[in-house]
Amino acid sequence: MIDETKEVSHVLISSEEIDDITTRLAGEISRDFEGKNLVLLGILKGSVPFMSDLMRKITLPAELEFMKVSSYGAGTVSSGNLTIHLDVLRKGLEDCDILVIEDIIDSGRTLKMVVSHLLGKGARSVKTCTLLDKPERREVDFTPDYVGKVVPDYFVVGYGLDFDEKYRTLPYVGIPDFAFEK
Ligand code: IMP
Ligand code: MG
Repeated sequence: MIDETKEVSHVLISSEEIDDITTRLAGEISRDFEGKNLVLLGILKGSVPFMSDLMRKITLPAELEFMKVSSYGAGTVSSGNLTIHLDVLRKGLEDCDILVIEDIIDSGRTLKMVVSHLLGKGARSVKTCTLLDKPERREVDFTPDYVGKVVPDYFVVGYGLDFDEKYRTLPYVGIPDFAFEK
């Protein structure tokens, strides 16, 4: 049996810290979206663990929606190519205050495109929440509304984040050992 934790020995954000982050963000979101029609829109697949923890700490009713978009191939460098594989399925977004949930913001291209796409479909408001942000990697002008943690420019995996579809189910965020090999 392969133990993926052995390939990701450098822990960047422990499960305990993730728990603190989701508690803080859920508090801010519950306060800010009071009286609105909150729709949590997860970007598949990376946001799944984060969204799952976050939604259960938000003290407001919320609908759940998903989109699947891609900006990365099998490697670790952004292609700048964005494709919508699954669009939001809800009929009509006019009464929706959408909070897009993402695992990490790198160049900023994915979320910038998703936000304008949703506004174009008529959403009443669109805000964004990311577990991790790498602001030094930004290539387009984009600022998320809710950020779990700002991280330096490392390639990270775990808690939804993958390398070639591996490591998503790890309960922490870490730097894969291969990143230190030369
Ligand atoms: P952006 O469009 O460049 O902001 O890219 C965002 C997407 O790139 C995220 O949804 C991730 O899927 C992926 N990504 C960016 N940085 C990392 C990383 O360090 N590890 C894993 N995936 C990453
Ligand atoms: Mg990804």
